[in-house]
Amino acid sequence: MRARAHAKINIGLRVGSRRPDGYHPLQGLFQSIDWSDLVHLEGAGEDVAEAAGGGELLEGWANLAWRAAVAVRDHAGTDRRMRLSLAKDIPTAAGLGGGSADAAAALGLAGRLFSVARRELEQLAPGLGSDVPFCLRGGLALVEGRGEVLHPRTCASDYALGIVVPPIELATPAVFARWDELGEPRGEEVPAAALPPALRGEGPPGNDLYPAAVAIGPTLDDWRAELEARWGRPVLMSGSGPSLYAFFLDRSEAEEAVAAAPAGARDARAVAPVTRGWEIIDDDAGE
Ligand code: C5P
Repeated sequence: MRARAHAKINIGLRVGSRRPDGYHPLQGLFQSIDWSDLVHLEGAGEDVAEAAGGGELLEGWANLAWRAAVAVRDHAGTDRRMRLSLAKDIPTAAGLGGGSADAAAALGLAGRLFSVARRELEQLAPGLGSDVPFCLRGGLALVEGRGEVLHPRTCASDYALGIVVPPIELATPAVFARWDELGEPRGEEVPAAALPPALRGEGPPGNDLYPAAVAIGPTLDDWRAELEARWGRPVLMSGSGPSLYAFFLDRSEAEEAVAAAPAGARDARAVAPVTRGWEIIDDDAGE
């Protein structure tokens, strides 16, 4: 069985003071996008976690998608062996939720393999990571708590996004820690006119983690200024960064924008919103 695991963007992210458990309460508008990894899971003679094509899987057995599949297997109370293979396309440490998307797809696939109901998968999701509950559901949602409280919204599809990943590595815990040190700054407000009409007023108007991300990687602000100049519109940061994006009328306009981005980005893509976090693309009878 193979599934497509979709990345997400944050359209606004408000952060509250660090809780005693170390997490920060959030309020953010999350949207799944058609930039995806492929996750393959099947029954096997022995446990295998690999990159597609047989290469080394980033982080090996500690990989979040593998841990998700094991959590479902443990929940089902079986010791059946399985092979998980991951074909990565979503950039890592980019604020696009790639690892969480893979984990959500692995939950879904393992749920099929071991006959575990969706409701039970939803209970396992928060223990794997703050973005996994959203990625398991996908589409458009207002997200609260540390990421586990979802208020689904009707997904608009009448726009596209140009996304650029600047050559800066940002680890999420480091960005949250810097946000604490900086005295809990607020992100700059994005004017409502910069958003597609269906998204206006739906979520918080800026990304509070932006000042912290810039404090760690100052060239991020140069990238944003340059993209704003070239694209002629406000540019937003997704999650804890460094991915930067703006809204366009359709995919061809977003493609033109991506082609006009400065050289040297880690990645750049024109994408569209999608209504799910993951989906099965071929199902070989549960194997
Ligand atoms: O939940 P997850 O493992 O993805 O979180 C990674 C790190 O991001 C946490 O250890 C924490 O430092 C930070 N985080 C946070 N508040 C959240 C989500 C993540 O402080 N709501």
